This record gives sequence, structure tokens and C-alpha cells, in this order.
Amino acid sequence: MHKGERFSFFSTVTMSLSIFIFFHLLSYFHFSFSVPQPYTSIFNFGDSLSDTGNLLILNASAPIGRLPYGMTFFGRPTGRFSDGRLIIDFIAEAFGLPFLPPSLARGQDFRHGADFAVSGATALDIEFFRRRGLGAVARVNQSLGVQLRWFEELKPSLCNSTRSCKDYFSKSLFMVGEIGGNDYNVPLSVKRSLKEVRSYVPKVIETVSMAIERLIEHGAVDLVVPGNPPIGCYGAFLTLYESPNKEDYDPRTGCLKKLNDLMRYHNKLLRRLLEQLRIKYPRLRFTYADYYGAAIRLARHPKRYGFSNGVSRACCGGGGPYNFNSTVICGQPGYNVCKDPSTYVSWDGIHSTEAAHRSIAMGLLHGPYTDPPIMSARLH
Ligand SMILES: *[C@@H]1O[C@H](CO)[C@@H](O)[C@H](O)[C@H]1NC(C)=O
Ligand SMILES: *[C@@H]1O[C@H](CO)[C@@H](O)[C@H](O)[C@H]1NC(C)=O
Ligand SMILES: *[C@@H]1O[C@H](CO)[C@@H](O)[C@H](O)[C@H]1NC(C)=O
Ligand SMILES: *[C@@H]1O[C@H](CO)[C@@H](O)[C@H](O)[C@H]1NC(C)=O
Repeated sequence: MHKGERFSFFSTVTMSLSIFIFFHLLSYFHFSFSVPQPYTSIFNFGDSLSDTGNLLILNASAPIGRLPYGMTFFGRPTGRFSDGRLIIDFIAEAFGLPFLPPSLARGQDFRHGADFAVSGATALDIEFFRRRGLGAVARVNQSLGVQLRWFEELKPSLCNSTRSCKDYFSKSLFMVGEIGGNDYNVPLSVKRSLKEVRSYVPKVIETVSMAIERLIEHGAVDLVVPGNPPIGCYGAFLTLYESPNKEDYDPRTGCLKKLNDLMRYHNKLLRRLLEQLRIKYPRLRFTYADYYGAAIRLARHPKRYGFSNGVSRACCGGGGPYNFNSTVICGQPGYNVCKDPSTYVSWDGIHSTEAAHRSIAMGLLHGPYTDPPIMSARLH
């Protein structure tokens, strides 16, 4: 019996030791496989969801130039449409890179990346909206095409020869979007028909496609392309499109179904585009970032994620059921601001709080809202 016991004791020890070593090795290999090669720079194109200061440089009297914008993280207004960091800031942090400087800032070092996003920017050129009688609403003339030109102007300061650019951009992450949201916000804000707005979607996707192709020509190999968020959950649209008709609202979220359907249509065409690009460029990496999924999860279960004040009521605004009033927006005389923005998803009725951005960014970096997760291996 003693012998047997000793035998089993030793065999247990050896077995657990080899299991330990096996798993240790496994995790070692897994580890060395899944830790990303750090990016050395990030280049971002988009609108207010990722503008780190360009609009404020273009227009010093924009509302984001005043507190409470920036109250939670920076302690001062930076030009970000939030109380703190944006999704792009959390992504930069995750890769140990500095926050992206707005490309219009003077005297900046852009070797670790630049942010070309401008709040209010559309994918389509502003002339498109003028031709449709929307010139008074579409007032930001820094469309995706303009932002690409800025990138091309900056490029010689980053790398000079085809070879050095190829090398430099092979270590860069290119974020193309979210862009296109304003192409729909513009007509929706003056209640153009959904049929008309829907007809813009293929044109927006085509513009995004041309932008991606141009970046590939410049040497981009790793592109993250975010979809649109569920704007039917935004206090601004819930106020503007308030309806006595219960069927207009999703019973699970209280969000406007038709507007969310429109976003899903955009996202569907965008994913289809990425599938085509993956076939055309099998050596490049195209990652779809599902902002919609990451945000609708918060709308379905706000309390589970710590958002006790829900998804649609703004922390900062001018009163009303969603604390949104288009004549008294956040930062303008008469506004109110909540005590604890981290319990709100919505910051100002259109943009999200830092807490929501963090939650969405974590879902992108580690999955499941990117495929593959941004933090996973870069195998080229
Ligand atoms: C700058 O922002 C203010 C406040 O939103 C606005 O009234 C003004 O028209 C803007 N100026 C330009 C040139 O866009
Ligand atoms: C918008 O910008 C483009 C390119 O910079 C320029 O050609 C065009 O005239 C501008 N349009 C308006 C209305 O400012
Ligand atoms: C590229 O060339 C220009 C002009 O010779 C120079 O000013 C610039 O610093 C160079 N850029 C890089 C990244 O070497
Ligand atoms: C929005 O604010 C203005 C100014 O305080 C007020 O006159 C108006 O009634 C408000 N609108 C709504 C829908 O509450």
C-alpha cells in the first residue's frame, strides 16, 4: 500500500509538473503569438467621434471650446466632443502611443501619428449637399477627400522614398472612420425622407472605398474601418423624431427603429466592401470595427455596464425628457450638467461620455467587436 501510495504521489507530482510545463509552454507560445507588434504610429480620418481638436483650431468659438467639455479627463476643453477621452485615445493608449495630435496643430511631432478628423465632416464633398439644397446644414468643408489631401501634404515630413514610406507605413495603423454619420445627420436634421437619406448610403460607401484605395497606394497595410453607431438611441434624434407611435421604438432599448435600420444598412454595405477588399488585397489587413454592436449592447443592458442613467438621456444639455434641447446645447447658456458622467452613455445628446468610449474601445481592442481584435497578432 505504501509503495503504491508513494508511486501515485510521485506520478501525481510528475504529472502535474509536466502539465504545468506543458501549459506554461503553451501559454508562452500563445503569448508570443498574440502580443501585437506595436504600431509606431496611427493615422485617423473621421468626424466628431474621433476629432482630437481640429474643429476647435478651425473655429475657436465652437461650443467644445468651453467646459464642461473635457471636465472628466483633461480638466480643460481640448476640442473633443466628450467629457474626456475618445475611442481613438483609448486605442492610442493601448499601444503605448501618445494621444493623436490634431493635424492642424502647429509645431507638433506627427511621427507617431496624426488625426485628420474634423467634427461635422462628411464623407461626401460639401458640394453634394449644396446641390441638394442642404448647404445651410452641411457647413463643415473638411470632407474625407480634404482629410486625405492633408495626409498627402504631411507625408513628405514622415518618409521620403517609396521604400522608406513602405517601411514606415507598414508599422502604422490606419483608422478610416467612423465617417459617413454626418452625411446622414445633415438630411435627417431637417427631416428629409428616409428614402432620400438611404439613397446616399451607396455613395458614402463608394467614397470610403476610394479613400481606402488611396491609402493603400501610399503604403497602408493595416486598416481599421469602423461602422456607424445606433443614432436612433441618441437623445438628439429621439427629441427631433419623437413619435406618438409605440411601434416606432424598439421595445428592448427605447431607440428609434428606422434610424437604427438606416445605420445597419450603411454597416452592411461597409462590411461587404471590406470583404471585397480582402479578396482584392489578400496580404493587407482590413478590420471592421462594430461600433453599432458595441453601443447597442449598452442600450440593451445599461445597468450591467454601470450606466445607471441609461443610454439616451444626456449628461449635459438643456432639459427635456432626454436632457436635449437644440437651442440650449451643452456648454451654451442655460445648460445643465450631471454630477457623475460615468453613469451616462450619452454626453450631450449626440456624443458619448468617456466611460462609454472606454467600454466600446475595450470591446474593439480585445474583441468581440472587431474581427480580428485589434490587439491580436499582426502576422506580416
Ligand atoms: C463657429 O462656431 C460658432 C458657434 O457654433 C458658429 O456660430 C459659427 O458660425 C462658426 N463659424 C464658422 C466659420 O463656421
Ligand atoms: C471646400 O474645400 C474645397 C477644397 O479645399 C474648395 O475647393 C471649395 O471651394 C470649398 N468649398 C467651400 C464652400 O468652401
Ligand atoms: C524629406 O526631404 C525633405 C527635403 O529634402 C526634408 O526636409 C525632410 O525632412 C525629409 N523627410 C524625411 C522624413 O526624411
Ligand atoms: C428649449 O429651450 C428653450 C430656451 O430655454 C425653450 O424656450 C424651449 O421651450 C425648450 N424646448 C423644449 C422642447 O423644451
